[in-house]
Amino acid sequence: MKRVYIYKMFERFWHWSQASLIIFLALTGFEVHGTIEIFGFDQAVRFHRFSSYALLILITFSIFWHFTTGEWKQYIPSTKKLKSQLHYYISGIFKGEKHPTHKSELSKLNPLQKLVYLGFKVVLIPVVVISGILYMNYKTIDQNDIIVISEIPLNTIAVLHTLGAFLLISFLVVHVYMTTTGTTPTSNIKAMITGYEEIEHETDHKIDNQKEK
Ligand code: HEM
Repeated sequence: MKRVYIYKMFERFWHWSQASLIIFLALTGFEVHGTIEIFGFDQAVRFHRFSSYALLILITFSIFWHFTTGEWKQYIPSTKKLKSQLHYYISGIFKGEKHPTHKSELSKLNPLQKLVYLGFKVVLIPVVVISGILYMNYKTIDQNDIIVISEIPLNTIAVLHTLGAFLLISFLVVHVYMTTTGTTPTSNIKAMITGYEEIEHETDHKIDNQKEK
């Protein structure tokens, strides 16, 4: 095993602030929706707005970071070992089999993670954020007579936003479970806090792969 620096400082800051903002937005959003009661409706509306601005700023910085550091390449999907990764999560993991893919600084995501996180970044987050912005500016857009937007009924925007919120929460639940499937149940979470993770030495892994062949 060797200690490797996997998650950089900004990445960790962005990860935890995004997680906290999404949880807070879910709590205040579902209060606006009428599902729960914590802050009171008016306060929930104010908090939801305020934290959505914070999320937008964070997303802007994280897009900038992904492109300037080249980290966006980590999310390029690949079908290589996708089947064995799926097989591992469905069955191998419960039989104590080894992880089919090897984690390193240059390749931190397995093929399934690449696919799911890419979907999260380019589909799920945009659906929630764009519908949220349309929701927030609905009246303004209407007054300005921007026809494309005013033709979308507010109800459709609200349903889309709520559906995105449900999907985000489902993602969160599965994501938290998945973090416990690392070398030890807490090793992935610790890595996202400290930046460092104990991972198998690359040469050991290569030897194992050759044995499997
Ligand atoms: C940039 C991101 C977001 C923006 C701009 C935004 C904006 C809005 C706006 C304007 C509303 C209507 C209530 C109000 O006036 O405050 C709303 C409602 C809501 N939001 Fe968001 N939101 C964002 C992110 C999120 C996230 C991440 C979640 C949950 C994970 C969420 C869940 C909800 C829910 C459940 C409602 C109630 C929908 C309804 O019943 O009509 N929002 N959002």
